Amino acid sequence: MKRIVVLISGRGSNMRALFEAKLPATIAAVISNNPAAAGLEYARRHNVEARVVNHRDFPDRSSFDAALAAEVASFTPDLVVLAGFMRILTETFVTRFAGRMLNIHPSLLPAFTGVNTHQRALDEGVRLHGCTVHFVTATLDHGPIVIQAAVPVLPGDDEATLAARVLEQEHRIYPTAVRWLLEDKVSLEQGRVKFHGALCFPAAVISPAEQDKGPRTGQAREV
Ligand code: GAR
Repeated sequence: MKRIVVLISGRGSNMRALFEAKLPATIAAVISNNPAAAGLEYARRHNVEARVVNHRDFPDRSSFDAALAAEVASFTPDLVVLAGFMRILTETFVTRFAGRMLNIHPSLLPAFTGVNTHQRALDEGVRLHGCTVHFVTATLDHGPIVIQAAVPVLPGDDEATLAARVLEQEHRIYPTAVRWLLEDKVSLEQGRVKFHGALCFPAAVISPAEQDKGPRTGQAREV
């Protein structure tokens, strides 16, 4: 059985989606930089090791990263999954787990890297927003893209309604991407994501859509 280590900083809803997806893997540990992260309690309740490496206990980013890397490596993961992990990782950390570390980001990258993605999408007046799962590289919120989900931005949306619509899709695409990796259906080759086997792609997502049909959404699925 392959082994996953999940890194979180807070609520942990993406982590929960991974737990609930019944992946063909063992979730070996959940590690947080934040002792108050709600997701830690959830992991403990599900008999998964929940550890804290508090960045506040370290004088600088590189010593924190070294301690975090040692903790992650102690669980011998095949895959490291960042699920709302809000610390920037050093190149040394990223290189150590290169090709086996994924992140989810609440925007259609490369648009809206960083924080406050939903408000910034509203401010820009984009018609489509969404989320992205990508391999982690040393550049923040960049890296080869595995899967994205687009949602329409609707008239009357505010940050909360848009965030909720995106989050629902995060909970769909993250377990999908992790499963693809576990099943060797996706790999990273020379910095590009390669898919092994056929994927069925949905039709275009158009927003605003014709009124009688409503916005179209879809999810890549295997055939
Ligand atoms: C999610 O929306 C995730 O995409 C985002 O933090 C949230 C965590 O929620 N991650 C980033 O912004 C990373 N750049 P969760 O703790 O409920 O999964």
